[in-house]
Amino acid sequence: MTPPRFFAVDYAINPWMDTTTPVDIALAVAQWETLRDTYQRLGHVVDVVDAVPGLPDMVYAANGGLILDRTAIVARFKYSQRQPESIAYAQWMNSRGYTTVQTRHVNEGQGDLLPVGEVILAGTGFRTDPRAHIEIADIVGRPVISLQLVDPCFYHLDTALTVLDDTTVAYYPPAFTELSRAQLKDLFPDAIVVDSADAYVLGLNAVSDGRRVVYPAAAAGYAGQLSTAGFTPVAVDMSELLKGGGSIKCCTLEVYS
Ligand code: ARG
Repeated sequence: MTPPRFFAVDYAINPWMDTTTPVDIALAVAQWETLRDTYQRLGHVVDVVDAVPGLPDMVYAANGGLILDRTAIVARFKYSQRQPESIAYAQWMNSRGYTTVQTRHVNEGQGDLLPVGEVILAGTGFRTDPRAHIEIADIVGRPVISLQLVDPCFYHLDTALTVLDDTTVAYYPPAFTELSRAQLKDLFPDAIVVDSADAYVLGLNAVSDGRRVVYPAAAAGYAGQLSTAGFTPVAVDMSELLKGGGSIKCCTLEVYS
């Protein structure tokens, strides 16, 4: 995780970002600290990467890459404003002893690349290039299933889908093409399908350890669905970081190694 010390909405690269809306850094930091403390209270280990001045979106650490089986695939960002972040994340990955690899095509890390069981669900349509999906399948030696996003409000896969455990996901169908919806239905017959009220507060931008699901507090309906399905929802308010178009999962790069 990277603290939002230099958080701002200085440019708009997704529909959630409005450069005329003021940002309260102290509140963003407080909400981020609550998220970090929540993970620690649940028994997870949190490593903190230093924030870099001039990189206001660096708080969305999920986009830094994908770390799987000791290999770290470094992000290649679509927009120039975020490109220097990959240098900072690659440095951290190297310092932790991971072998870093680059893709030739745009990949925005865990924003679009979500491991579930033995496969990787990979979003495309707004950010990650489908050609990077093929590169990643080659690098990690696992099947990569491409999913096509169609609504600009759900521009990264992790804004429209939560991985809950090795066989269960939750998602918002209107964010996907017909074909991708059919694929999701086929792969995850027991999936939780969320309503638009929860999707439009980025409720699906949540992190699950297989039992406990840390989710954005505003997504009350989703919390009820999670409980019914046997998961334990843990609410954290991320309203300030929503101004950049991200929430809990965006602020969290999970390490699968
Ligand atoms: N402002 C950032 C962007 O548009 C938000 C990234 C959110 N991250 C995520 N994993 N969905 O790139």
